[in-house]
Amino acid sequence: MNMKRIALSGIKPTGIPHLGNYLGMIRPALDLAKDYRAFYFIADAHALNQLHDAAELDRLIFEVAATLLALGLNPENVTFFRQSDIAEIFELAIILAATTPKGLLNRAHAYKAAVDANLAAGCDGDAGINMGLFTYPILMAADILLFGSHAVPVGEDQRQHVEIAQDIAQAFNRAYGEVLTVPEAVIGEAIADIPGTDGRKMSKSYDNIIPIFAPPDELCRRIMGMVTDSRPPQQPKDPEQDNLFRLYRFFAAPAEVESLREKYLRGGIGYGEVKKSLFDVLERTFGDARGRYEKYVKDRPFLESVLRYGAVKARAAGAPMLDKVREVAGIR
Ligand code: TRP
Repeated sequence: MNMKRIALSGIKPTGIPHLGNYLGMIRPALDLAKDYRAFYFIADAHALNQLHDAAELDRLIFEVAATLLALGLNPENVTFFRQSDIAEIFELAIILAATTPKGLLNRAHAYKAAVDANLAAGCDGDAGINMGLFTYPILMAADILLFGSHAVPVGEDQRQHVEIAQDIAQAFNRAYGEVLTVPEAVIGEAIADIPGTDGRKMSKSYDNIIPIFAPPDELCRRIMGMVTDSRPPQQPKDPEQDNLFRLYRFFAAPAEVESLREKYLRGGIGYGEVKKSLFDVLERTFGDARGRYEKYVKDRPFLESVLRYGAVKARAAGAPMLDKVREVAGIR
């Protein structure tokens, strides 16, 4: 068991999990857990940089926990925990900061985008930027490196953060020898582009998401509201240009996808009918899991006990690495 390679990923509890999160990270991570020794966690300390409302953060943490369990994460096979329960992560982050070049963090996309937005608005570059945002990649590197992770399943938007974690590991190793494992990002290639209801990338910040466990009436409303062009049913259409098809193909069986593709190319299918098929296929995919989600999300004591169980396992797994790091760095 301990010979297995290690997969690790975190999910930041800043919004209700949506289909983009599911395809970009949750599904690949659950697949990877079949072959790897997996550590998956709720990155609540990362969320703290954005969310300064304790009650809301608390609610989101449990929603994410319930989501992963409902989708089949088995806490016996996966070490599933809440980041803030693992003091070793924070300690490692401080130690890693000592060998991390500041320029590495200056180049991080999320930080640079915030500075650029300030400058474009004529503000001071640092306006409204907290140190948590600036040092975000160090904390993420600590998450990854504490457990000796080999593979980090993430969405495309997190690729640079994993690259920075590689650089941070190498900088530490240059100073102290080969202590830290240099991780690799695992990014599902077909899934780089998941359309939201308006056709742009599905993202909470665009307000175009479809929650994984939206109740049927809400799911129906969101799908009906999806943007399409106004070509009539008879006209042939390029399926790859249509949001409905681009979402449908991720959830339907290959034969269903091919049959719908043909209907687009031939003409004769209207968007109303495709919306109905998309609804059916999502309902088929997530209907049962939604029942489990609704049960779990109400049961805080159960969720809390799962996370505490994971925390015990995670601390035991991470402690030796922190000891080693302290030892080579000469601190006690
Ligand atoms: N930054 C990731 C995100 O926003 C979440 C995250 C935190 C993470 N720590 C991680 C992902 C470690 C992978 C590995 O989605």
